[in-house]
Amino acid sequence: IALTIMMIILAYLAGSISSAILVCKMRGLPDPRENGSGNPGATNVLRIGGVSSAVLVLFFDMLKGALPSYLSYLMGMDAASLGFIAVAACLGHIYPIFFQFKGGKGVATAFGAMAPIGHDLALCLIATWIVLVLLTRYSSVAAMATAFLAPFYTLWLDERFVLPVAMLSTIIIIRHKDNIERLRIGEESKVSRKKRNKK
Ligand code: G3P
Repeated sequence: IALTIMMIILAYLAGSISSAILVCKMRGLPDPRENGSGNPGATNVLRIGGVSSAVLVLFFDMLKGALPSYLSYLMGMDAASLGFIAVAACLGHIYPIFFQFKGGKGVATAFGAMAPIGHDLALCLIATWIVLVLLTRYSSVAAMATAFLAPFYTLWLDERFVLPVAMLSTIIIIRHKDNIERLRIGEESKVSRKKRNKK
């Protein structure tokens, strides 16, 4: 139990490292918390800084979800502990201790934490997200729908992890409440290939 608590704390601290804020700072880009949607995440960095910065953010946000859960898995922890560790990484991203508790939405971090469950699950999630982005052009819609489907995929592919995955999905969907409101009033911005075409 002591080891689990230690991993939960480490996962929260790792999650608190906001790749979006750091990548933007290092590359001299505007602060993602004050530009675009105001969200420090890969989608908003794509709006502000383009593809290469967004890919960096995506990679490091996924890594901070994947590392704590995968390491804990290697230590032989049970599914419930792994779930709490994954949730801690996500909550770190959403409420980062290093950035006044104002973080992102946890999509990439949750995906990173879910991916070690299996290649098949990771592929299903990526495919769902990509297809939905292509169909709708809304990153938020793709993220919410993928989060909604994730527990069902997990039930099918590895039922041990249904509950932890459902917890992560719930957090992600709740965290998109501003996007839901923007979608409702028709003000959500679409994913655009052109860098300067905000809104
Ligand atoms: O990953 C976050 C995404 O689903 C929405 O981001 O910047 O459009 O609010 P954003």
